[in-house]
Amino acid sequence: MTKRVGIFVSGGGSNLRALVDDMVGDHTARPVVVVSNNAQSGGISWANNKGIPTVVVDHRPFGDDRLSFENAVSAAIYPYFPDILCLAGFMRVFTANFISSWPDKILNIHPSLLPRYKGLNTHERVLKAGDKEHGCSVHLVTSLLDDGPILGQAHVPVIQGDTASELSNRVLAKEHILYPAVLRRFTAGDTRFVRL
Ligand code: GRF
Repeated sequence: MTKRVGIFVSGGGSNLRALVDDMVGDHTARPVVVVSNNAQSGGISWANNKGIPTVVVDHRPFGDDRLSFENAVSAAIYPYFPDILCLAGFMRVFTANFISSWPDKILNIHPSLLPRYKGLNTHERVLKAGDKEHGCSVHLVTSLLDDGPILGQAHVPVIQGDTASELSNRVLAKEHILYPAVLRRFTAGDTRFVRL
């Protein structure tokens, strides 16, 4: 049966585009809704143009009340009956309460070779550490930040003199290959590690 995928974005949405563009033909999944906490997200306008249903739940009116924000998100996505949620640059952290409602059903992409460099500003931290290699990871989301079983990783070299923005672009180009590759396998029931 076709898997129904909800995709969560906060920013530009380039990973969203890569995922949606891959979910065609013999892919076992289709996008059913794009969700954002940010009405200005480039991902929302792109999805609207594409005719994919979108929902925006602004986190700001909820303040520190993350449970109420999550309840609003759950209610907003319910009519689309997603089976799998893909976080693609979604800049809110879900509570254990939300995550436990979606066991092994939430994927995230993170711009580092996890378990190294959890959290923000990964490219700057890689440069500061003088690493020779960097990359990105797709993992299942658990209640620990940027943790959970790793489903795939793509590696890129760090080149002498790289700026954080050059390094970020190199990683992002790999993200656009890795995330669709992992989702394609995952929705077909194959959780073997993907290495690019
Ligand atoms: C990506 O680098 C992703 O790994 C991180 O946020 C960025 C989102 O970029 N979590 P985009 O919105 O998909 O272009």
